[in-house]
Formats: sequence, C-alpha cells, structure tokens
Amino acid sequence: MKKSLAVYPGSFDPITNGHLDIIERGLSVFDEVVIAILVNQEKTPLFTIEERVELVREAYAGNPRVRVDTFSGLLVDYAVQAGASVIVRGLRAISDFEFEFQMALMNRRLNPRIETVFMMPAEGYSYVSSRLVKEVFTLGGSVKDLVPPVVERRLREKESLLPPVAPRSGRRRVR
Ligand code: PNS
Repeated sequence: MKKSLAVYPGSFDPITNGHLDIIERGLSVFDEVVIAILVNQEKTPLFTIEERVELVREAYAGNPRVRVDTFSGLLVDYAVQAGASVIVRGLRAISDFEFEFQMALMNRRLNPRIETVFMMPAEGYSYVSSRLVKEVFTLGGSVKDLVPPVVERRLREKESLLPPVAPRSGRRRVR
C-alpha cells in the first residue's frame, strides 16, 4: 500500500515544542511527515538554514517517519516534488486563522490536488511562537519547556543574543 506523506512547512527559526506537538499529531494521521524549512531570502533569520535543519534533525534523531528538507519557491510545487498530497499547518488561535485561510486557498488555487489540513496543538502551546521564544530568551526569560533542549542550548551559544559586555574603563567610577 502507498504510504501517506504530509509536508509540514515553515520557517522553524527555531523549532518549538508547539511545532513538535503538531508533528506528533501529523504522525498519528500520516505515515510520514516531511518538515520543509523555507529558504527565505527576504527575512533575516536568527539561525541559518543549515542550523535550522540540524536543530530539527537533532530534535527528531532516529525517527524514520520524519524527514527534514529545505525548499524555496512555491510550497505546492515542493509538495508535488516530495510526493505529498497534503500540507499540514498548525492553528493556535483565531488570530492565526485569517492568514492560514488565505494561504490554504491560494495554495488550492495553485494546485487543487494538494489539500491543506489544519491541526491544533495542545492548549499549553497556543501562545508559543518562534518569534516570542527569541524575544523572551533575548530579554533574559526562561524558554525551558517551550523548545527542545537542543534549541535551548543553541540559543545560549548564539553570541548575537548575549547582552553586550560593558566596555572596560581605565578609571573606576567614584560614586
Ligand atoms: O513558519 P511560517 O513562517 O509561518 O511559514 C510560512 C510558509 C513557509 C508556510 C509560507 O511562507 C510558504 O509557504 N512560503 C512558500 C511560498 C509560497 O508558496 N507562496 C504562495 C502560497 S501562500
């Protein structure tokens, strides 16, 4: 029997536990899930495309039903090339809906044979996004339990996120 394959596309800058939740749900419905990371020339990501691939690979080490890939151009074209007829997207809240609905309908117009399936993460992840994870981390907050441990480690290693070191002054300040 032909295996069912779904593409789970996104920026994944970086992958969060909310993404992992959606991937698990995808795996409960489809035989295989391809995590497709967009190579977006316009945005300036925190993690390079290579780093993002590595982070997803590490988070999913050893699971033969999960594949990691990158894509550029139209998502529906990538889905066809990957052999998938389904795109999985997560819906956290109503605020996600408008954009996701637009994308799903545009993708349907581009290729009616590719179906978009929305999945809802556990309520505990409804407020988790890559953007907020980066913001909280940069401002010194804890992102434990919001991202896989490997991501937390790599965030700590990112020099651009560390607070600037105060320049050493020759004279001591007298208060
Ligand atoms: O994680 P993100 O940033 O919400 O993911 C957005 C993504 C990658 C799914 C979306 O930007 C995308 O599919 N880009 C590919 C370009 C494309 O196909 N555009 C036309 C259809 S909307």
